[in-house]
Amino acid sequence: MTDSTIITHDVLVVGAGLAGSWAALAAGKEGVTDIGVLSKLHPLRSHSGAAQGGIAAALNNVRPAAGGGPRGPLEAIPPGDEPIDSWELHMFDTIKGSDWLGDQDAIEIMVKEAPEVIYEYEHMGCVFSRLPDGRIAQRRFGGHSTPRANYAADYTGHVLLHTIYEQALRHGVKYYPEWYCLDLIIEDNVCRGVVAMDIISGKLYTMRAKAVMFGTGGYGRAWKITSNATANTGDGVAIAYNAGVPLMDMEFVQFHPTGLYGKGILMSEACRGEGGYLRNSDGDRFMEKYASGLMELAPRDLVSRSEQIEINEGRGVGPDKGGVYLDLTHLGAEKIMSRLPQVRELAHEFLGVDIIHDQVPIQPTAHYSMGGIPANADGQVIADADGTPVVGFYAAGECACVSVHGANRLGTNSLLDASLFGRRAGKAMAAFIKGGAKLHPISGDPARQQEARIQRLMSAPAGSKESVAQIGAELKEAMTNDCGVFRTGQQMTQALQKVKDLQERFPQAQVMDKSRRFNTDLLGAIETEHLLTFAEVVVVSALNREESRGAHSRTDFTKRDDANWLKHTLAFKNGGDGPRLGYKSVNIDWEKYPPQERKY
Ligand code: FUM
Repeated sequence: MTDSTIITHDVLVVGAGLAGSWAALAAGKEGVTDIGVLSKLHPLRSHSGAAQGGIAAALNNVRPAAGGGPRGPLEAIPPGDEPIDSWELHMFDTIKGSDWLGDQDAIEIMVKEAPEVIYEYEHMGCVFSRLPDGRIAQRRFGGHSTPRANYAADYTGHVLLHTIYEQALRHGVKYYPEWYCLDLIIEDNVCRGVVAMDIISGKLYTMRAKAVMFGTGGYGRAWKITSNATANTGDGVAIAYNAGVPLMDMEFVQFHPTGLYGKGILMSEACRGEGGYLRNSDGDRFMEKYASGLMELAPRDLVSRSEQIEINEGRGVGPDKGGVYLDLTHLGAEKIMSRLPQVRELAHEFLGVDIIHDQVPIQPTAHYSMGGIPANADGQVIADADGTPVVGFYAAGECACVSVHGANRLGTNSLLDASLFGRRAGKAMAAFIKGGAKLHPISGDPARQQEARIQRLMSAPAGSKESVAQIGAELKEAMTNDCGVFRTGQQMTQALQKVKDLQERFPQAQVMDKSRRFNTDLLGAIETEHLLTFAEVVVVSALNREESRGAHSRTDFTKRDDANWLKHTLAFKNGGDGPRLGYKSVNIDWEKYPPQERKY
């Protein structure tokens, strides 16, 4: 290590989306002055900005109009009228949505603090959509029993991200845009920093910090059809796992019901929240068969499965009959243009469909990872089922598993989770720093090890025809076909074999661009290595869980099995032998919220 390649901060955050930037801002507000945030993208290109439909909180601004039912018109609640929503109701909906795998102590914290987070956004100038009297507008979302999605048309993530980034800059946070984290340095269960590459120069740095937080987002890019940005390659979870941190509940991957057909791009659930229908090739609103109460506003796992059944039984649409229709034509141009302008633009841009006049084909799309780096409600990462902290290491947002979403997340709870637990992690890191946290020494030279890794990737055996892109494509195909909306033991065994074969082939793959400046070919190879690392954990965890719960739906074990499986999976790296699995109990209030059958 030479001095010019060492950078130090009190707090170092990896990832500049809502979780990361909130953490930096919150730590700054608590008086920490030396905060760095590194991001492989420009911060405003973080995937939080792609979230469309809303952020949940029981504000009690809107209710269903009298006699309107669960899908009818909404009206503003006149000030002074009885509230219809409460943190308790938000909590119950979230627990039920999670198929009882969510940790109820963490969920309680989230739903109670939710309104405070929304008002903090509002006070920072966030441009929410408004009711005529100026209060924040709210809409319906799947699995929520009242309208509690606070929104900014269908650009909610975008406006939240801009608000928080501006405020973090105002508080003196130093951003490192287009820096890529390669390694997490943990020794003796104490986090000491990271190794990162400045993508522009290709130079490696050892970044030492008293506290490190990962807000590195999700990992939908392991599937072929996904709503996730190309950057969502699960770097954070793979790096943490390689550093000895377990991964929790990785088998639970959410498939959003409305990804643009053949592309996966998000058509917000707000489309259905605003009254949109799902139709099969016969024109039927098939949700009648699967969730006659909530219909299209049932939770995502249920709606995606219903779509997949329609498709599998031959009532699909599109050239390969692999989609169904999202029908918004009855909403009218004015509603679509004011509430869903981005969705309209995306459907037009990518499929040439104007949703004002025509139905648009959609299909389930890999959207959200419920699992991730295990952390408590203060973002403190834990090393085992007993909750032993990894000193100085924090995680929040989609890369973390707190676990507030359990086996299935409700729409709009993700922007809330990222904001609220990012903020809490920032406060916790500030307390840790003020409590006398130190910069711990680093033995060895982890940057040199990463340099050696890069050299290995750059020098595949002469004459090798193997390509990184081909390996990535085969992985995505296998994960989509054999570890998707529905799974069986046989399919997942096949998927696991495929992942192992690809891991074996990977060292032969060529990085064609041998330069160091902004080498996207090299980055693609590193990202693919990360995909191969966590995909194995996803498949092994899923294969092992012999039940169906939330988004993990097995056609060979169709029932939820609380007697054997009401527990979190923890996957530990086990040399080259694939993950070693352990389990952790779910935090349940057995008097208030005991497990029930989940019906909608
Ligand atoms: O459908 C959506 O607008 C996505 C929201 C979410 O994932 O929470």
